[in-house]
Amino acid sequence: MDGWIASLSNQSSSAHSRSPLWRIIGYAGVGFQTKQRYLFGWFSMKLKLVGNDSAGVVTAYYMCSDVDAAPLRDELDFEFLGNRSGEPYIIQTNVYHNGVGGREMRHSLWFDPTADFHTYAILWNPKHIVFFVDKVAIRVYPNDASKPGGGGGSGFFPISKPMYIFSSIWNADDWATRGGLEKTDWSRAPFVSSYRDFAADACAWPAAGGPPACAAATGDSWWDQPPAWALDAGQRLDNAWVARNLLIYDYCDDRKRFPTPPEECALRDAAATTAS
Ligand SMILES: *[C@@H]1O[C@H](CO)[C@@H](O)[C@H](O)[C@H]1NC(C)=O
Repeated sequence: MDGWIASLSNQSSSAHSRSPLWRIIGYAGVGFQTKQRYLFGWFSMKLKLVGNDSAGVVTAYYMCSDVDAAPLRDELDFEFLGNRSGEPYIIQTNVYHNGVGGREMRHSLWFDPTADFHTYAILWNPKHIVFFVDKVAIRVYPNDASKPGGGGGSGFFPISKPMYIFSSIWNADDWATRGGLEKTDWSRAPFVSSYRDFAADACAWPAAGGPPACAAATGDSWWDQPPAWALDAGQRLDNAWVARNLLIYDYCDDRKRFPTPPEECALRDAAATTAS
C-alpha cells in the first residue's frame, strides 16, 4: 500500500486506494480503514500533511474498536490540526475508554510536517500506550492497573477491545485552529494529505470465532515483553526534551476541566520523575 491520498473538498469527497487491506469510509470527511482489527502491537504510518493554508482542516490517524462513534468504544488518536500558511501545525493525541475521552495532549513538532513524510506510530500493550513521531516517544499513556505493587488503579485503559486503524481528513473549523477562530478557506480546496507504508506488527483478530492465541498470551510477542513495557534511557531523554520544549497542553494539568486530576496522571508524574 503506497502512494495514496485523502482529499477533502466542499463539493464531494474522493479518495482512492490500491490495497484491498483498506476500505473507504466517508462522513464529514473522507478516509480509509483497515478491514482487520488488532489487539495490542505496533502500528505505524507515514504521513505528509496538507500544505499551505490548512486552517480548519484536521488530518487524523487513529485506532478505534468501532466503525462509528459507538457509546462504549475504545480509541487512540493522532490528530493534526492545520493552520494558516506559515503557521505551525499542532499534533493532538487522545485516549478513549468505554466511550469516554478527554485525555488530550497537544504538542508542536520539531519539523514541518507538510514538507515531507514522517512516521507516526503507536505501541500498544497491556502496560502502556506510546505515541511515536519518527523515533521519538512524544507521549506515554500508562495503564495504572499495572503500576508496581498493583492496587487496581482507575482501569481507564483500552485492554480488551480489538481496534481497526483509520486514516481520515475532515473539516473541523469550529474548533481546530486557534480554538475555531480561523476558518477553512474553501477557495484553497481540495485539501490533500498523503499516506504511505502502513505497517502493523500486531495481534490480528479473526473475523469470526474467538480471541486468537496471541491475545491470550500477548507476552509471547516482542511488543509485550519487558523492553516494550518501559522507555529505554535514550527514549526517556527524548521524551523529557519533548515535554520541556514542545508541550502545549496536558489534560493532567488542566484544573478547570479536572479539579482533581484523573487517577492515571499520578503514574505519569512518577514516570517523569524517574526520567529526570
Ligand atoms: C496556529 O497558529 C497560531 C499562530 O501562530 C498559533 O497560535 C496556533 O497555536 C496554531 N495552531 C492551531 C492549531 O491553532
